Amino acid sequence: MRTSKTFWNKAADRYSKSAIADPAAYEKKLELTRGHFTPEMELLEIGCGTGSTALLHAPHVKHIRATDISENMLTIAREKAEATGVTNITFECASVDDLEVANGSLDMVLALSILHLLPNRQDVIRRAYAMLRPGGLLITSTVCLSDGYGFLKFILPVAQWLGQAPYVDFLTAKQLEAEVKAAGFEIEHNWRPGPKKAVFMVLRKPAA
Ligand SMILES: C[S@@+](CC[C@H](N)C(=O)[O-])C[C@H]1O[C@@H](n2cnc3c(N)ncnc32)[C@H](O)[C@@H]1O
Repeated sequence: MRTSKTFWNKAADRYSKSAIADPAAYEKKLELTRGHFTPEMELLEIGCGTGSTALLHAPHVKHIRATDISENMLTIAREKAEATGVTNITFECASVDDLEVANGSLDMVLALSILHLLPNRQDVIRRAYAMLRPGGLLITSTVCLSDGYGFLKFILPVAQWLGQAPYVDFLTAKQLEAEVKAAGFEIEHNWRPGPKKAVFMVLRKPAA
């Protein structure tokens, strides 16, 4: 994980300036997520990056604990929060592996563009399930590189060796669906804006 942390710290400035690849899909994901908000909600975001999504969601919920492994990403996120006057986000530098969260304590976990970057993805999905209250939601957007980008398997190791790419796992949408179901989630919404686009899922921990 050390290598990925170094990569993301170096990437932070460039990442914060990069344009959203598919603005229409991003807006729809925001809207689908917001449809589940109530003003009392406690959210955890893992891999929040520069906080763009947390900042947009914050006015609709009670509090967001927005976490990321990269201090440089979080410095930019904190600056943006201060500039926009958003005060109900706590930004915290932590790997998803080190987060302490009481079981059953959260209404929602956001994992946006991160699950494919984790070597222990299935463990993280199971932990998110444990953190959620019965009826709580895990919302994910995940790049599934084995659906159409499998050729990158041959290029990526070189980029990683040169420090130009982070750890990335290759998975299919079908595989991800099987993994979230195996963790106990019900798939409430499963949307892919295009054949090779990131898969957006709204996943519910069944009510007790
Ligand atoms: C592709 S960016 C996505 C950022 C943001 N969620 C978004 O959608 O724009 C991936 C983020 O995950 C963070 N990350 C990578 N590995 C992590 C880990 N093990 N724990 C927490 N954050 C991690 C990186 O620092 C980076 O900010």
